[in-house]
Amino acid sequence: MTLNTNGIASDVTGKRILITGGASGIGAASALLLASRGAKVVIGDLAEDMGAGVAQQGQDAGNSIVFKKVDVTSGDEVRALFAFAMETLGGLDVVINNAGIDHKPVPMHELSDEEFDRNIAVNLKGVWHCMRAAVACMATNGGGHVINVASIAGLRSAPLLSAYSAAKHGVMGLTKSAAHEYARVNIRFNAVCPSFIDTPMVRNTMANMDERAQQATIKASPMRRLGEVDEVSGAIAWLASDESSFMNGHAFTLDGGMLA
Ligand SMILES: NC(=O)c1ccc[n+]([C@@H]2O[C@H](COP(=O)([O-])OP(=O)(O)OC[C@H]3O[C@@H](n4cnc5c(N)ncnc54)[C@H](O)[C@@H]3O)[C@@H](O)[C@H]2O)c1
Repeated sequence: MTLNTNGIASDVTGKRILITGGASGIGAASALLLASRGAKVVIGDLAEDMGAGVAQQGQDAGNSIVFKKVDVTSGDEVRALFAFAMETLGGLDVVINNAGIDHKPVPMHELSDEEFDRNIAVNLKGVWHCMRAAVACMATNGGGHVINVASIAGLRSAPLLSAYSAAKHGVMGLTKSAAHEYARVNIRFNAVCPSFIDTPMVRNTMANMDERAQQATIKASPMRRLGEVDEVSGAIAWLASDESSFMNGHAFTLDGGMLA
């Protein structure tokens, strides 16, 4: 571990970072912030044009950031993404598993098989694919840090979002188990658990709500507002820095006090 003596908050200079779901929302904000602070970033995402656009934005600002298309539901595509990142970056220090989807808010018994399976495939199995690949890569460079973007829906109930909540609880189980399993080989696992953050995903979910439900969503946090992507990416940057070095197996909530 190098001590942060240069006065830069959450120093990630030179860190080799892979982030999934980096084409939009929390992932895009995190990728751009980390790259602007000197990290070398690969973003993987299903959305090709948007992902390439985020990489271009970072490159135009003089930062090191490249895009590769991936569908995290495919073990083969995830392996190819990690091979690309290892070749491009020369190793991997931090992996941020952020790619995710929501589903239409409906009572649990009304969810279709397809919607349930798709949510688990992306939000849970997709994270496992990436955690598995991250361990193999990090073992070759003496350790690393895997940051899973879960949700407060992985810590408590999420009425009408049962498959999403089940997947995110599953991510917490993977995070905590892996934290124990790999601590001795210097690979840490932590989760970020945001409440409602103003991103395309949440705007899409809220578009399916009536006015009353929208207001209830906004006011669910004691701070009476949605979070901003920068309020999540800042926390992710701190986690990605060596300043978080004794944190392992933790659920880092970013919820304006909702779970307090
Ligand atoms: N926005 C919130 O309020 C909130 C709250 C808690 C947790 N989260 C989690 O944060 C993460 C990011 O969400 P966001 O709000 O920024 O959403 P977003 O929709 O803006 O971004 C999600 C990204 O994931 C990508 N993606 C989806 N399926 C994929 C797949 N199969 N393979 C590769 N990429 C895929 C999308 O293309 C998109 O770029 C998600 O895991 C989400 O569950 C979000």
